[in-house]
Amino acid sequence: MSLFGRIFSLNAVMLVVAVLLLLFGPVTISSQARASEAVIVVGGMIAMLIANVVLLRVGLAPLARLTRVMTTVDLLRPGTRLAARGRGDVAALIGAFNTMLERLESERATSAGRALQAQEAERHRIAQELHDEIGQTLTAVLLDLKRVAKLAPDDVRDQLTQVQETTRNSLDEIRRIARRLRPGVLEELGLASALRALATEFTTAGLSVRKQVGKDLPALGKDAELVVYRVAQESLTNAARHAGARHVDLRLGGDGGGGVELSVRDDGKGLRGAAEGAGLRGMRERALLIGATVTVASPPGGGTAVTLRVPGGQT
Ligand SMILES: Nc1ncnc2c1ncn2[C@@H]1O[C@H](COP(=O)(O)OP(=O)(O)O)[C@@H](O)[C@H]1O
Ligand SMILES: [Mg+2]
Repeated sequence: MSLFGRIFSLNAVMLVVAVLLLLFGPVTISSQARASEAVIVVGGMIAMLIANVVLLRVGLAPLARLTRVMTTVDLLRPGTRLAARGRGDVAALIGAFNTMLERLESERATSAGRALQAQEAERHRIAQELHDEIGQTLTAVLLDLKRVAKLAPDDVRDQLTQVQETTRNSLDEIRRIARRLRPGVLEELGLASALRALATEFTTAGLSVRKQVGKDLPALGKDAELVVYRVAQESLTNAARHAGARHVDLRLGGDGGGGVELSVRDDGKGLRGAAEGAGLRGMRERALLIGATVTVASPPGGGTAVTLRVPGGQT
């Protein structure tokens, strides 16, 4: 029955019962209502109101459930659907909502994929320009400085050496930035070496990164490798920036079913209910693109663990 029909018939039944009781029941009302009559009529009215509330609650319960899902649904955790029980227009509404969720999820995945691709392409371009343009210019400056330093008098030579040192440092810095923007090692040497380089890069005086890359890893596609790399990079960045950790364990291994599992675990202060930022959202978005899942949790033992599961069959 439609929602309208259901509410109307519930109310009609109650009104009919009340009228029948008044007409044929023992209840009487004088033109000047007496106190005892008033009590009975008011009591009857209260009983009708209570019955009304209960029946409306039950009748509208599916709508309340729908509202709850609508306000809490998260497209980055796809798969939330409401069970549409029975027939009528509430079930139709729930069905339409589920279809809309499906469409939103697939559109979201497509547009996220496009945005991430554009981002990677732009990073690629900037990294190339940094490396090829500024990198080459600085290298030329460095060579010129070396040549001039040889001809310069002693007191100037010291200063020139200083300038050479500064230039070399910025050249290194530019190379580092370019590498971070575009994980060239990923393309050249593969995922295992790229992760090793990442671990080395994040190892500093205060933070040690232990890495463990399994042997005989199933081969992943280029997209999946990039996702694993970016998730590891963001997790290490978070561990270095937010956790106050001393050790980080970076682990990549097969899951036994043709897929791989990346785990980055630090011994820092834990998430403490921190809201998700662009970094964690980006991880989920990337993972969705290749059908992988990310979980971020702070286990009771302390610290934070990020786990990425890439299912098998990713080419
Ligand atoms: N390894 C971690 N240890 C402690 N807190 C973390 C860790 N990773 C993330 N967080 C918390 O979660 C928040 C969201 O992280 P993220 O989405 O990467 O955004 P951002 O790094 O830009 O702040 C951080 O601001 C931080 O408070
Ligand atoms: Mg972050």
